[in-house]
Amino acid sequence: MSQLFEYFYVVAIAFFAISIRGLSEVKTARYGNWLAAAGMTVAIGATLAAYSVQQIDLLALAIVVGAIVGTPIALKVPMTAVPQRTAVSHAFGSLAVALIGTAEYYQRLPGIDPYTMTVLTAEMILGYLTFMGSCIAFAKLQGLIPGKPFVYGGRNFVSLSVLGVAIVLGIYLIANPTQSFVLPFMALFAIAFGFLLVMAIGGADMPTVIAILNSYAGMSAAALGFVLNNQVLIVAGALDGSSGFILAVIMSQAMNRSFTNVLFGGVGAVVVSSSGGPGPAGGRTVAAYTVDDVASILGDARSVVFVPGYGMAVAQAQFIVKEIADMLEAKGIDVKYGIHPVAGRMPGHMNVLLAEAQVPYDQLWEMDRINPIFPETDVVIVVGANDVTNPAARTRPDSPLFGMPIMNVDKAKTVVFIKRSMSPGFAGVENELFYLPNTMMVFGDAKKVLADLVAALKNQ
Ligand code: TAP
Repeated sequence: MSQLFEYFYVVAIAFFAISIRGLSEVKTARYGNWLAAAGMTVAIGATLAAYSVQQIDLLALAIVVGAIVGTPIALKVPMTAVPQRTAVSHAFGSLAVALIGTAEYYQRLPGIDPYTMTVLTAEMILGYLTFMGSCIAFAKLQGLIPGKPFVYGGRNFVSLSVLGVAIVLGIYLIANPTQSFVLPFMALFAIAFGFLLVMAIGGADMPTVIAILNSYAGMSAAALGFVLNNQVLIVAGALDGSSGFILAVIMSQAMNRSFTNVLFGGVGAVVVSSSGGPGPAGGRTVAAYTVDDVASILGDARSVVFVPGYGMAVAQAQFIVKEIADMLEAKGIDVKYGIHPVAGRMPGHMNVLLAEAQVPYDQLWEMDRINPIFPETDVVIVVGANDVTNPAARTRPDSPLFGMPIMNVDKAKTVVFIKRSMSPGFAGVENELFYLPNTMMVFGDAKKVLADLVAALKNQ
């Protein structure tokens, strides 16, 4: 390869590294994304120019098919379906890596050196298991198969034995590279392990699993980079692998789940009500209020914090939230937004939605920063959030949420809780907040309730 292309690779690598920096903050995330796309364009261009392409027609066809499939997916998939869309990307990415590794193996036969064979074997095992794991993650998140963990006695033993067989076959192949009949069996056992691994994990942990699979896909791509002696693939794969792993650890911590617990599955689909059912239980009742009641409370407020959650995403209520915030600010009320790290269904979900509605970044307050100011906040408006506000996480050791850091909205003077029913959130746990005396439940679709609130505020 001519040296010139290596310089372009260095440019692409620099773009990738700086893009990660940009993606780590809301206000620079868009720029980070563009930078990563630019880096990828440079990398692809340099690769095409560096190698003499044998069949340009096949390449053009692949680009056309990819664009036809990818463009509508990128434009049409709703924000709430991004986790399963990401799972599909990982499935395709890891399958591509595994198939290229397989092709390299057959092409390089019979003279494969032990180093190349070792890296190829690791890359293929990771690639094939990630492919199947990502397909199962997609099917669970899309509701094509039940999200419940598939558990049975000795499942860890069975899963690890299946992985063990794939590894033993891989070692055999490294020692005897010409015994190519072993490869399909090794791939099948890796695929079977991917299937067992993700089937055992509940739907609730699926976004974390996707981050882990992201990490595996990155590692296998990096391994392929060593085989192909392609520096940009090594660096991009390593960045992908490490960032996926770090994200998975952060998500596990924010959801109060041990990392190994997520990895070995068997949990994550717990549907429990702390009082035995989703409805008002134990004779407790909740107080339902109207938007006029909320408007009159807001009339006396000096500080308001919006706490959005998954329901805001479903209702697409972020624009109307911003409209109300503007109205309140025009009256001299201090407005902030409290963001829980795992509100919604993917990392940064609320940030993305609120950025879409042009909410200024300096009004977005992360959980650790906003929690101390709840006691002096007049009104908290919870828009379709549930688990991330549940005080049971602090007070009820029997709750599956116990120990999860939450937004301490119950400490505010008044909490307005907007949701459609008494149904629990993602964790399936009833929210203690519904029954507190300072809570005003306002039932209805978040967008509709907030539109009515706008009208009520205008009539004041
Ligand atoms: P949830 O606890 O899932 O609660 C969302 C609430 O929104 C539901 O109780 C639902 O109640 C309400 N809702 C749904 N549609 C609505 C609509 N159209 N209008 C108004 N309300 C609506 O959400 P959360 O508080 O954001 O918590 C996130 C949960 O997801 C946590 O348990 C977290 O661990 C989990 N999770 C998060 C992530 C990431 S990375 N964000 C990843 C995996 C899991 P009704 O049906 O009564 O309306």
